[in-house]
Amino acid sequence: MPATASAAPASRPNGRNGSAYTVIDHDYDVIVLGAGGAGLRATLGMATAGLKTACISKVFPTRSHTVAAQGGISASLGNMGPDDWRWHMYDTVKGSDWLGDQDAIEYMCKEAIPAIIELEHFGVPFSRTEAGKIYQRPFGGMTTDFGKGIAQRTCAAADRTGHAILHTLYHQSLKHRAEFFIEYFVLDLIMDEDEVCRGALAWNLSDGTLHRFRAHMTVLATGGYGRAYFSCTSAHTCTGDGNAMALRAGLPLQDMEFVQFHPTGIYGAGCLITEGSRGEGGYLTNAGGERFMERYAPSAKDLASRDVVSRAMTMEIRAGRGVGPEKDHIYLHLEHLDAALLHERLPGISETAKVFAGVDVTREPIPVLPTVHYNMGGVPTNYHGEVVRPKDGDTDAVVHGLMAIGEAACVSVHGANRLGSNSLLDLVVFGRAAALRCAEVVKPGTPHKPLPPGAVDAAIARFDRLRHAKGDTPTAALRLEMQKIMQNNCAVFRTAEVLDEGVRLLGETFSKSADIRVSDRSLIWNSDLVETLEYQNLLAQAVVTINSAANRKESRGAHAREDFPARNDDEWLKPGRCISTR
Ligand code: FUM
Repeated sequence: MPATASAAPASRPNGRNGSAYTVIDHDYDVIVLGAGGAGLRATLGMATAGLKTACISKVFPTRSHTVAAQGGISASLGNMGPDDWRWHMYDTVKGSDWLGDQDAIEYMCKEAIPAIIELEHFGVPFSRTEAGKIYQRPFGGMTTDFGKGIAQRTCAAADRTGHAILHTLYHQSLKHRAEFFIEYFVLDLIMDEDEVCRGALAWNLSDGTLHRFRAHMTVLATGGYGRAYFSCTSAHTCTGDGNAMALRAGLPLQDMEFVQFHPTGIYGAGCLITEGSRGEGGYLTNAGGERFMERYAPSAKDLASRDVVSRAMTMEIRAGRGVGPEKDHIYLHLEHLDAALLHERLPGISETAKVFAGVDVTREPIPVLPTVHYNMGGVPTNYHGEVVRPKDGDTDAVVHGLMAIGEAACVSVHGANRLGSNSLLDLVVFGRAAALRCAEVVKPGTPHKPLPPGAVDAAIARFDRLRHAKGDTPTAALRLEMQKIMQNNCAVFRTAEVLDEGVRLLGETFSKSADIRVSDRSLIWNSDLVETLEYQNLLAQAVVTINSAANRKESRGAHAREDFPARNDDEWLKPGRCISTR
């Protein structure tokens, strides 16, 4: 638990009916909000650089959603055959449907190699080849020689790569004396009148106190918002809290219409079955037993990029060729693979399929369906992780004191569609880049200016208002309504009619939220209040997502408009937005 020696307790009469909240002050050089792969990599780098670093997380660090990442992390190490970072870059630009920022992609693909070697030295227990090198498997859209062959580029620790990375980074961060504030829910950023971020306000779930953290740099590493949808591979905690804080601070989000559907979520349960299972030789079939991906992507087949595979599966189901009594899903076959290989390389998904689908993968196929998995959009940044906002024309300005990394950020290295295994890479490369930048721009121990008077009053007032919300509609009912609208009206295929209906329906949900009911008033372990704060965060992002999708009148990457089926570069391919900040 955190050292609170520098904390100065204070009371503020901001509660309803004059009741006081205890507010405790902390000063750090840097604070990192979130303890997933990006947050921990940044925390470790900042602590190692001698910066007084706090990492604030609403869950125990090793329960962050990175722990669920399965198939691996990409880097052109060339351990299994020829590879080159330029081929990786080419695949990533093409996979992004040309929307990705090519300078940032170049940085990521080049830096992938030292970043993975560094992870190996930190102690990540990667699977190994016979020769003792890091094992690498094929993944969708990863090719050799600019699209001519299939690359084996995805470094794996069996199918528990995120688990291996997260535990290693947490242990290293502790070793380097980073301080952790665990089970603290961050309520809002503290911005000053010059739009400089000065820290954040958080609620300690275990004792009900509020904490005002001052920092020279605040890093949003708060992950994606998969839970805006009804069916997703994301944990219950994936509510994009940092994106919503940015919105409340008046900052824009970017590329929010691009929501990735992973082809193989377990039908009915949503749990992820790694793309690595197709990398190891698994394949999809329809009701006729046909390996239909051969028709849609004759070269890459089942290892085409995720947007392509998810659309193909949806088209098969729509054409009446889905499997099961309702013909509403697809089969993923692994039963032809050697049981020893399944045991060695895919033990996690073998267990997941048993528990969540009742399937023994050595004997029968897994029922799967495209399931919401990843948000390409987020808080716009440059490749150092610094948050940027539009200034004049095509130029951007840095928002001082604020960074965003990982799924919360839009660098943008994934453009309109992310390639599998580029996410863990994004986390470690840009977590590291943010730490390197902080080491340049923050001098350890620099004194803090006093905060402007009332800097956290609005955040405390909002918290208090929600805590005492006495309406008639429970949070869970509103959340379910929002999730169903997003699932039905902002899915794999989109039209103006369906999106506009979604915009209207979500607007109604937004209005109904004034009638929200929080039944528990406690400040300690109040899950009703946590879920209400998270619901508000989700709703803000859902509204931005569906409106952005309705506005974008072209098809690109994960955004497939049936009424605008072609990519329209003339109107929608915008120049790299962060050029002025480099
Ligand atoms: O399929 C998977 O293992 C997921 C990987 C990713 O999203 O990068």
